[in-house]
Amino acid sequence: MSEFKVFRVYQDDGKIQGKLEQSTLNDLSPGEVVIKVAYSSVNYKDALVAKGSGKFTREFPVIGGIDSAGYVVSSENKDFKEGDAVLVTGYELGTNHDGGYSEYARVPTEWVVPLPEGMSPKQAMSIGTAGFTVALCVQRLEENLQTPEHGPFVVTGASGGVGNYAIDILSGLGYEVVAVSGKDSEKEKLLALGASKVIDRNEIDLSGPALEKAQWGGAIDNVGGDILAWLTRTTKPWGNIVSVGLAGGSHLNTTVMPFILRGVSLLGVTSSGCPTELRHRLWNRLATDLAPKHLDKIVTRVAGMDDLPDIFDSLLAGTSTGRTIIKIAEQD
Ligand SMILES: NC(=O)c1ccc[n+]([C@@H]2O[C@H](COP(=O)([O-])OP(=O)(O)OC[C@H]3O[C@@H](n4cnc5c(N)ncnc54)[C@H](OP(=O)(O)O)[C@@H]3O)[C@@H](O)[C@H]2O)c1
Repeated sequence: MSEFKVFRVYQDDGKIQGKLEQSTLNDLSPGEVVIKVAYSSVNYKDALVAKGSGKFTREFPVIGGIDSAGYVVSSENKDFKEGDAVLVTGYELGTNHDGGYSEYARVPTEWVVPLPEGMSPKQAMSIGTAGFTVALCVQRLEENLQTPEHGPFVVTGASGGVGNYAIDILSGLGYEVVAVSGKDSEKEKLLALGASKVIDRNEIDLSGPALEKAQWGGAIDNVGGDILAWLTRTTKPWGNIVSVGLAGGSHLNTTVMPFILRGVSLLGVTSSGCPTELRHRLWNRLATDLAPKHLDKIVTRVAGMDDLPDIFDSLLAGTSTGRTIIKIAEQD
């Protein structure tokens, strides 16, 4: 393990870009557990870190990759031993702590989650932060008494990683899922994942009054901005909207009317900040009652670290679909 391959993001003269290079264990961020990484994945946040359009990283350089799964090589903490199959997602991995785009990762013990029974590193990274975030959404929705009987449930940014898993998992729980997407070409796939219908995001009238006809039992929103504002105006009384993402903008221009006249709730989730005990519980749910049924359809590509720059470009341009996992180790 003297030298190994990493994708490290630099800030040079104000320009942020990542490059493949060799590194050593001594160069990695500190931690008690060293993992030989088998797979990582690509999320929107990875693209923001690598292209510098997010404000997640306080100090460069940093190795990217907010997701990783593999096998423990060494541990200074007795909770883990050599050979244990584990995953790490979120916290500061790949933002302010060297991440999963590396043949080895070194992380604090509390970040490490044992792989659920029967789940391989490849399956864990197929799910990754995208699927984990949906499990967190389900948790928040259940706590706030959302049920399938409440009415059609909207998923926006449907063609993305979170969107795909939201359709798969919620339809599996008995929800009638309405997908909102900007990509006509993805319609058949979204229906195959479990959506009952697909609405073209460009055909939604975003200029309505403070309260419009209440249509939706609830929503998971990956887009933010005007689409999220529209959801607040069109969700039924006591429905829940989970705000997940900002692919379409970080602003929110709405009124208090949906909240005080319809009892609509706007719920937040942050997968990176999810408490450890809940994190372990949700990963176990992702291997049991929330197990996605269409991993093969959702993961559209297994790529290498060399492909990362091109993948980030298409993610930020909004032209990518589905989910890409990154094979790090030569062998599974
Ligand atoms: N809060 C959390 O803990 C958490 C966790 C994971 C992800 N996120 C955030 O959730 C969002 C989705 O993540 P992801 O990994 O699924 O990303 P992704 O795979 O890139 O998908 C994003 C989707 O958003 C839609 N979109 C892209 N650009 C858009 C635009 N300009 N206007 C409107 N819609 C646009 C597209 O879907 P359509 O073409 O189908 O509309 C795209 O496929 C991101 O903003 C990400 O940062 C947050």
